Amino acid sequence: MANDYTLRLSEHELNRYRMMAIHARAAETAAWQAAGIDKGARIVDIGCGPGLPLLELAEAVGPDGRVVGVDQSDEARQTAEALAAEAGYRHVEIRAGDAAATGLPAGEWDVVHMRHVLLHNGPRIGEILDHALDLLRPGGHVYLNETDPGTHRFEEDPPDGVVDMEARYWALLADRGNDLSVGPHLGRYATRAGFDVVHRQARFDAFPLVPDVRPPSWAGRQAMLDAGVCDEADVRRWDEALNDVVPGTVIYVSQFTVVARKP
Ligand SMILES: C[S@@+](CC[C@H](N)C(=O)[O-])C[C@H]1O[C@@H](n2cnc3c(N)ncnc32)[C@H](O)[C@@H]1O
Repeated sequence: MANDYTLRLSEHELNRYRMMAIHARAAETAAWQAAGIDKGARIVDIGCGPGLPLLELAEAVGPDGRVVGVDQSDEARQTAEALAAEAGYRHVEIRAGDAAATGLPAGEWDVVHMRHVLLHNGPRIGEILDHALDLLRPGGHVYLNETDPGTHRFEEDPPDGVVDMEARYWALLADRGNDLSVGPHLGRYATRAGFDVVHRQARFDAFPLVPDVRPPSWAGRQAMLDAGVCDEADVRRWDEALNDVVPGTVIYVSQFTVVARKP
């Protein structure tokens, strides 16, 4: 549910989103092709966040296409709007809305794109995919990308504080009914919703941890404080531990991509 969302936006977050979007564009060309992400396509990007993947989609569809980003977060939408305006994209629109009720017209869209959204919406995945099915024209595609945090690996053992922060964050997400293995389960969810899976891909991205990029668990610290699973002293300890990470240490992050067709 909207109020259960755990991540907060900051410069660290924006840098991480940017890095992930660049990796995704380079690594998912076959999936883009399978989904028909090309000139003139009409795409809804649900949970567009601050809009980094959305900008890549906007470039791919060109001015004859259309990309509508939908997000529940004011802060994320404001950033996405600013970045789209800066890029001069007139074929992009950013709207407030819920992933299961965007308010957009049904049956019109070529692609519904959702990246790192279902991990935060475990109890509502069925309802969200039902809505995606509704939005698409027959033959249109849903494009899903998620991780599986249980598979993340560090090249160097991270400081204890980082291990503790990661463990508490993922435990909080699981406690809220989220499926931490949503990445490898994407095909199952899409099939259950009535889609035909046409493309599957799995990979690890290697992200160097540099001082201005921090993991999602750091962005979830306020949610952890609000939930009472940590206190301010923990957050200070985590901050120090993150500063102790050897710059350039690589974290390997799994990425699962599924493209599925509406019959
Ligand atoms: C981890 S971010 C990913 C952003 C973007 N898709 C990307 O990959 O860079 C998830 C975004 O989905 C939004 N979100 C999560 N659940 C949502 C829901 N049920 N309805 C609308 N937006 C949602 C959050 O506000 C957040 O901006």
